[in-house]
Amino acid sequence: MRIDVVSIFPSYFDGLALSLLGRARAAGLLDLHVHDLRDWTSDRHRTVDDTPYGGGAGMVMKPEPWGLALDELAGTTPAAAGRPTIVFPSPAGEVFTQATARELSAREHLIFGCGRYEGIDERVFEDAAGLGEVRLISLGDYVLNGGEVATMAMIEAIGRLVPGVVGNPDSLVEESHEDGLLEYPSYTKPALWRDRAVPDVLLSGNHGAIAGWRREQQLERTRLRRPDLLPTDDADEG
Ligand code: ADE
Repeated sequence: MRIDVVSIFPSYFDGLALSLLGRARAAGLLDLHVHDLRDWTSDRHRTVDDTPYGGGAGMVMKPEPWGLALDELAGTTPAAAGRPTIVFPSPAGEVFTQATARELSAREHLIFGCGRYEGIDERVFEDAAGLGEVRLISLGDYVLNGGEVATMAMIEAIGRLVPGVVGNPDSLVEESHEDGLLEYPSYTKPALWRDRAVPDVLLSGNHGAIAGWRREQQLERTRLRRPDLLPTDDADEG
């Protein structure tokens, strides 16, 4: 998978050289390129923003550098891959979930456009639709200062679903949100710590009982913490 990121703060993405995703990049599973939007400006001050038409607080990102950046990066989509998917993180977008991560992990080429200030000139989204599939995606119902942190989160959630990135694929199956429920609690040695014992069933060696206990824990936690995730029937059970 190829991923391009456009930002006025490219160093935000230095962290993607670390850990699992860093290894995936080194192994050629993720081909990640981070770009400075200002490289597509042509004035002496490398200007990327201007005042909003119609008035209002803050600044808006100018369309010209974005247009040039996206034209160029869409031209790098591998020929066999068709059109890129162009993601703009935005608190006004659809909410990102594990299902979104899974969907996007199957794409050949993702381009992330990180907005700052009060956002990007609306015509950039319309114009980009001529280059690929445009998605405005929100991390959740809160406001960040820009798209960089949201893009980092999305790249991590998407990247770990790309085959080969996570060494043991079993660990992807049993985690929160993969089956629509929160994950069961985990324990390791010692069996007794600060007077707190690991639940007996986990020491029993009875795999059926362990699986049953873990399922109950998943349901109980989901009921308590995230009842919105349960099918309506289950949520009514109490
Ligand atoms: N940019 C600012 N706030 C955001 C959010 N909640 N999700 C994605 N991008 C954002």
